[in-house]
Amino acid sequence: MVSATVKQLFLVFASVLLAFPADASTSVDEPDSAYVFAYAPDEQRGRGTLRFAWSVDRQEWHAIGPEHGFLYSDYGTWGGEKKLYDPFLFRDRDGLWHAVWSLNDRDGAFAHAASIDLIEWQRQSYPIVSSGANVLMPEVAYDSEHGRYVVSWMSDDGGDQTFHSVRTRDFKTYGPTEAMPEARRLDVRRRVRVGDELRTGTVHRVAWTLVDGLIQAQKVAAYETRLHRETTDQDAVRFASLEPLEATITVDGDAAKPISEMLMGVFFEDINYAADGGIYAELVQNRGFEYRLSDKKGRDPDWNSLKAWHLAGSGATVRVDTVGPLHPNNPHYAVLDVEEPGAGLANEGFDGIAVQAGDTYDFSVFARILDGGEIDLLVRLVGPEGGVHGTARVTAASQEWQQLEAVIAAEATVPNARLEIVPQAPGRIALDMISLFPQKTFMGRENGLRADLAQVLADLKPRFVRFPGGCVAHGDGLGNIYHWKNTIGPLEARKPQRNLWGYHQSMGLGYYEYFQFSEDIGAEPVPVVAAGVPCQNSSAGGAGQQGGIPMCEMGDYVQDVLDLIEWANGAPSTEWGSKRAAAGHPEPFDLKYVGIGNEDLITDVFEARYRQIVEAVREQHPEITVIGTVGPFSSGTDYREGWELATDLGLEMVDEHYYQPPGWFIHNQDYYDRYDRSKSKVYLGEYAAHLPGRPNNIETALAEAIYLTALERNADVVHMASYAPLLAKDGFTQWRPDLIYFDNTQVKPTVGYYVQKLYGQNAGDTYIASRTSLSDDREDVRKRVAASVVHDSASGDVILKMVNMLPVDVQAAVDLTSAGVAESSATRTVLTGHPDDEDARPVTDEIAVAAQFDSTLPAYSFTLIRMKGGPQ
Ligand code: AHR
Repeated sequence: MVSATVKQLFLVFASVLLAFPADASTSVDEPDSAYVFAYAPDEQRGRGTLRFAWSVDRQEWHAIGPEHGFLYSDYGTWGGEKKLYDPFLFRDRDGLWHAVWSLNDRDGAFAHAASIDLIEWQRQSYPIVSSGANVLMPEVAYDSEHGRYVVSWMSDDGGDQTFHSVRTRDFKTYGPTEAMPEARRLDVRRRVRVGDELRTGTVHRVAWTLVDGLIQAQKVAAYETRLHRETTDQDAVRFASLEPLEATITVDGDAAKPISEMLMGVFFEDINYAADGGIYAELVQNRGFEYRLSDKKGRDPDWNSLKAWHLAGSGATVRVDTVGPLHPNNPHYAVLDVEEPGAGLANEGFDGIAVQAGDTYDFSVFARILDGGEIDLLVRLVGPEGGVHGTARVTAASQEWQQLEAVIAAEATVPNARLEIVPQAPGRIALDMISLFPQKTFMGRENGLRADLAQVLADLKPRFVRFPGGCVAHGDGLGNIYHWKNTIGPLEARKPQRNLWGYHQSMGLGYYEYFQFSEDIGAEPVPVVAAGVPCQNSSAGGAGQQGGIPMCEMGDYVQDVLDLIEWANGAPSTEWGSKRAAAGHPEPFDLKYVGIGNEDLITDVFEARYRQIVEAVREQHPEITVIGTVGPFSSGTDYREGWELATDLGLEMVDEHYYQPPGWFIHNQDYYDRYDRSKSKVYLGEYAAHLPGRPNNIETALAEAIYLTALERNADVVHMASYAPLLAKDGFTQWRPDLIYFDNTQVKPTVGYYVQKLYGQNAGDTYIASRTSLSDDREDVRKRVAASVVHDSASGDVILKMVNMLPVDVQAAVDLTSAGVAESSATRTVLTGHPDDEDARPVTDEIAVAAQFDSTLPAYSFTLIRMKGGPQ
């Protein structure tokens, strides 16, 4: 039972918080004030959102939306977490609204966020206030005597309900947790009927303008969602009466501006088996016997040290041991106990081992005799039917770890062979780091990349390569942050780790290989390091991003980032430069960019660590361009707060990410037109057009092509851009769409790949303004035809890119008079097809051009015309 006196006292506090005078600035037929009800639907205890309803009499309530979420929780992993329930809203003495809510039924933390208008919310925090007990039904009272807030909650762990509270002045630092009697709870949540449902939440008297603002915000959001959901499926109706169009595209050679030469690049992340089993040319899967159950969080009992290995034949056994390992970073190895020679240790590769007749493969193994004398090892490539297609022999003779090497020439082309190691004598032998590597790698690099896959990336002509992610860079929980130092040096000394996309990273493709590849294709390396926090979507070792690297360890972490710069650019006489030199690259890699953070949730935990890293790098390496992070979306709290932080820090560049439906790209071509040129430059680090079902087809590719015309136009502020993700192995894909699919023998670029390639191979360094007018001036028509003209001073070429996302042809009259056309012929490339087409390929021909010429832009097409010329 609640004590009446105590309760009355707290209700006084509450009334101060919950009521305030109505604003008089309303029109005649609007109420001066109204009531707002803040709630989260109970049935949404999965991913709830903060909703509002309003009323003038507290009897009849009108949902705002009705499905509109004004605030989302960003705590913990997708799917299982991101919950918001039992919200409690109140307004502080300065008029700022605060919401606290429960995160789940388990953790000892609640969530807090504040807002001026209930529409735009500031950064969230998740204070841990309880160890070992959950935090439910949080509420806030104001203790006017001490000028502080009292956050209280209920815990029901173990069945008993107990009540606790903490005190705070600023919702950033909190006093100790104290037990409190239930009687001191405010208990002001109300049950209210919204539509057909009874909801629980808090009621507040507010000025009508606030309610009106909420209603308008919801209407705008709903309108934008409608626009963004526009797809070509609706074109038959939307453009039912549309006839083929005429367009004039007039270039204004006097309105030219320099643009970034770095615009087109690639984003590499080890997702979808992009690295091991993908571009990293190693053919043996789990060569170090380091796969662990924890790679897949124990969900797959077969994902263990012997994954991809089996014993073929009889007379021997295999087990895994860790005593006296090859290297502490590589603790597991296989022990073969051979009684009767004949059986072989077989590796199935990544879905088979593909070998090519006549090609040669480097085999290597670390071996140690545990019992018995010298053992010859027969190494062979075996086809699925048992045929042997290449052999070699090595001899293990040492009781210490010894690397043995041989070359196998493949005698047949087999897409799905296996590798067998067959001891030729009885005995006990330890084997580790069993490798089969094609000698034909991209540019013949040792420990290099699959030539065909690397070549399609090189063909994009990327000006930069971003790596190692994506989420892989900041990892799933503190223990999974990607540490570059674990990825360099001898392969057996690298530290493999769980890949947060649900598999394993051998780190065979490490920082040295990323830098070398970038150099080989003439691209700038753009490493991205974690900002001292793991991914906000982490599910391992706590929830979300709360587990930032402890501040007392941040000094070491910051030093790691500084060491990276020394490793890349330092002289061979420096500590870290010497390691690069020892690896085979005495010349510096000339690193110019370092990304700090990956679309992180902007919180206080994040900010403290981010500032520390950014400030140290800028102080010690002013020559490096630091790229900050502004969240995972094109708007919202992290975007806004990330930009505020970047502006405060005066960052040179920030990394924006957004995956959006094609309609968003069509309707946001002016996104960067509005950007303040005096602030940070933009690296659009991840973007792609997403349709339901996630295809990569003509529709998504043209939406990206249209948007790229806008990026070129804004390439004075958008310095770099990279589509994401880049690579995906058929059958091992966690994310769609991707730019390039592949299997063990084939590379399958998508339609979107060709758009990226056309832009990459036809970039310019000057943007020349142009004006497009159409015979039908409807807005939805206008937004689907776009053009961009650039000049490339190296070749002296003018490049015209035109996109037609309409279901009808556009007859374009192009006027390039002021751009100066120097020759009468030009190369034209057209990519066109049905919007659903995933197999369309660009077709190139030569056409006649002049200062003025006509060009038909077929329905749903991207046309690129390249010719000699340029502003005089
Ligand atoms: O590109 C796939 C993922 O999308 C990246 O890892 C992450 O940064 C983003 O959410």
